Amino acid sequence: MPLVRTLINRDQDHIEPALPRGLRELYDGDLSFPTTPVDRPFVIANFVSTLDGVASYEIKDQAGGSTISGCDAADRFIMGLLRASADAIIVGARTLHDASPGALWIPEYTYPDAKDLYADYRVNVLHKRESPLLVVVSGSGRLELERAIFRTPGVRTVVITTSAGADALAKAGARILPSVQIHALDSSLGTVTPAAMLRFLYTEFGVRRLLHEGGPTLFGQFLAAEAVDELFLTLSPQIAGRKADTVRPGMVQGTEFMPTGAPWFQLLNVKQRAEHLYLTYQRA
Ligand SMILES: NC(=O)c1ccc[n+]([C@@H]2O[C@H](COP(=O)([O-])OP(=O)(O)OC[C@H]3O[C@@H](n4cnc5c(N)ncnc54)[C@H](OP(=O)(O)O)[C@@H]3O)[C@@H](O)[C@H]2O)c1
Repeated sequence: MPLVRTLINRDQDHIEPALPRGLRELYDGDLSFPTTPVDRPFVIANFVSTLDGVASYEIKDQAGGSTISGCDAADRFIMGLLRASADAIIVGARTLHDASPGALWIPEYTYPDAKDLYADYRVNVLHKRESPLLVVVSGSGRLELERAIFRTPGVRTVVITTSAGADALAKAGARILPSVQIHALDSSLGTVTPAAMLRFLYTEFGVRRLLHEGGPTLFGQFLAAEAVDELFLTLSPQIAGRKADTVRPGMVQGTEFMPTGAPWFQLLNVKQRAEHLYLTYQRA
């Protein structure tokens, strides 16, 4: 029985890989991605937003996407499906810290019911490693190293940071964590650029498909660098509102575009379940 219903599908050009039948049924259709660009990973982004464009309430313990989606099952299923499709998942330090301490960025964490379907797709169809690599971006290196993603056997985590961040992490004991690698990249421009992150992941870790799970600060930088190829956006039927003095970021924070340079997208796919819409766009 499908979890979502396909309303519009203009995504006819992709040839491979096709989803196995169980996932195709739940997703009410196929999912595939174009060939990877020659010199960087193909970047897919995944967000959930209210009708008025809020991506986080920025309230303690209620800042994450599940508050925005209302813990919507289909949103979580699609998130798991995208994770299962990716070599690596990238998140900013604040998104990491707003998740629960036990959170893991693996497909079945978001939607356990499809655990076996995800594993079969990932290992037998895509021929990828059992779990995607988690990439955490932090300039300061101030990370909560007690979190499950730094301590779970079989879950590989790479921290992209600055040299000051790497020093801070070394002092905090990160170098003895067996499944964690710390890499300081060039930050002479003040922060590490998305281009440097992508080049590094492509050459050092063989990442060909990268899932960007935010947050809005990191995502804005990738958009500005023209490094977002597809966007999977869940539109949740609630309105959060904003006051002039409250921070309730949309999908992008800390980056703005002028009308002449703002990125535009083409609609690929529209799915629906009850009041939620699941939209897929590709960069125009
Ligand atoms: N609705 C959704 O779909 C969705 C998705 C994702 C996140 N969220 C929510 O969005 C909120 C977090 O978003 P956010 O925009 O505040 O934070 P974010 O993008 O997750 O993380 C920002 C942090 O990442 C590091 N960073 C970002 N760009 C960097 C660069 N170029 N070089 C080095 N470090 C860099 C910095 O860490 P340091 O401070 O350590 O230097 C920075 O403070 C959370 O509430 C989260 O739950 C919602």
